[in-house]
Amino acid sequence: MKHIFQKGTDPSLPTLVLLHGTGGTENDLLPLAQIIAPAASVLSVRGNVLENGMPRFFRRLAEGVFDEEDLLFRTKELNDFLDQAADEYGLDRHNMVAVGYSNGANIAGSLLFHHKDSLKGAVLHHPMVPRRGAELPDLTGTPVFIGAGRNDPICAPQETEELQHLLEGAGASVTVHWENRGHQLTGSEVQAAADWFSPYLVKQ
Ligand code: MLT
Repeated sequence: MKHIFQKGTDPSLPTLVLLHGTGGTENDLLPLAQIIAPAASVLSVRGNVLENGMPRFFRRLAEGVFDEEDLLFRTKELNDFLDQAADEYGLDRHNMVAVGYSNGANIAGSLLFHHKDSLKGAVLHHPMVPRRGAELPDLTGTPVFIGAGRNDPICAPQETEELQHLLEGAGASVTVHWENRGHQLTGSEVQAAADWFSPYLVKQ
């Protein structure tokens, strides 16, 4: 998959896997990595699907209605890519934390839902429930940060809570941070993710 790799100065830190929103590219979330963990290696990936010229990580049938078959195919494709990138760049495959926004958060959620041990943790900015009816793998101890908007027109608060309950039901430790700026990724939300990241993952 098209991507940017930046080697960090502290190889003990998790590799941050950056996953952009619809219409974004692998350049978009690089500034977030600088705020969350400037010394960490970064693997920033571009989604392989195009919707009217806009990159995405999987197809959708309509706004908020996902093409499940493609979601599963693309989630495996991303998981396989992370395996290959770990080999190519000498990264610990078991020490990767996703940082995703919107469509990127949704495929990160799908990795958690469908591929056991694919992520050590995840920062999900404005995620939805990626798929209903899935049996989740054991996520005991997996830390997940969710940044959500109380007035997000794409993901209602009830869906955020549903995602929280599904992840917690599989054993994940979920922290939800609420904002009031719709579907926007705000600076204060990124800072909250950085504050959350520090004790959970960096100092372990
Ligand atoms: C999605 O399609 O993944 C969500 O609706 C978020 C978006 O990318 O607009």
